[in-house]
Amino acid sequence: MPILLKEVVPLGRTLREYELMFALTEADRTKKILGCGDGPASFNAEWTARGGSVISVDPIYEFSGPQIRERFDAVIDDIIANVEATQDRWVWGFQQNPQGLRANRVAAMDRFLADYEAGQSERRYQVAELPTLPFINGAFDLALCSHLLFLYSHLLSIEFHLASLLELYRVAKEVRIFPLLDMVGNKSEHLDPLRLALEQEGIETVVENVDYEFQKGGNQMLRASYEKTRQTD
Ligand SMILES: C[S@@+](CC[C@H](N)C(=O)[O-])C[C@H]1O[C@@H](n2cnc3c(N)ncnc32)[C@H](O)[C@@H]1O
Repeated sequence: MPILLKEVVPLGRTLREYELMFALTEADRTKKILGCGDGPASFNAEWTARGGSVISVDPIYEFSGPQIRERFDAVIDDIIANVEATQDRWVWGFQQNPQGLRANRVAAMDRFLADYEAGQSERRYQVAELPTLPFINGAFDLALCSHLLFLYSHLLSIEFHLASLLELYRVAKEVRIFPLLDMVGNKSEHLDPLRLALEQEGIETVVENVDYEFQKGGNQMLRASYEKTRQTD
């Protein structure tokens, strides 16, 4: 289904945030990574610059850089104002304060846009969307999905979540999802039923604490890997 840019909030995170959210390690550096729903995160640009291998998919990549920037400029003031009005819902560690948050989001957008055209011609940014991805089975070592699944639980059904997890697990040997909270900061209603449904499919998942917390209580990721699943066979 085609998306309308006015329906999307194109906010992106930096490589440092991805490292913390997904507990990326030295061993992950040589992996073939899929960034699902990366939007205007600077993860792809920065990871590639370090010699890493990553393909990002997102429906917003059908739009041009200036169009994505225009949408970002149209929403960022309201988002920062909203965060300022609800300061007790956030942990001011990494982001420091609302202006620090804005600076991080602007830095990610600038870095993304500087890389976007080159990345498109290298097929590092591809238009695609869950729950169906245009990759063969096991094409990636690791799939990362930040601030899409669970966060939008009010819009995305349990069926969508299950189909998406199975699809990510089809194309990658390991899947990591962050955060596990919904938009208002509660544990996603889909988390437990989804884990149960995956278990019934023979896929073991683990919830792990990570060193990143911006939404209060949002310091956990979900990991599903062939290795873990095999260990429990
Ligand atoms: C809040 S942004 C997160 C961007 C990035 N992952 C980050 O954490 O910085 C959510 C992204 O999910 C993308 N998105 C929405 N529906 C999607 C789908 N069905 N499959 C993949 N990405 C989707 C949006 O276009 C948007 O870029």
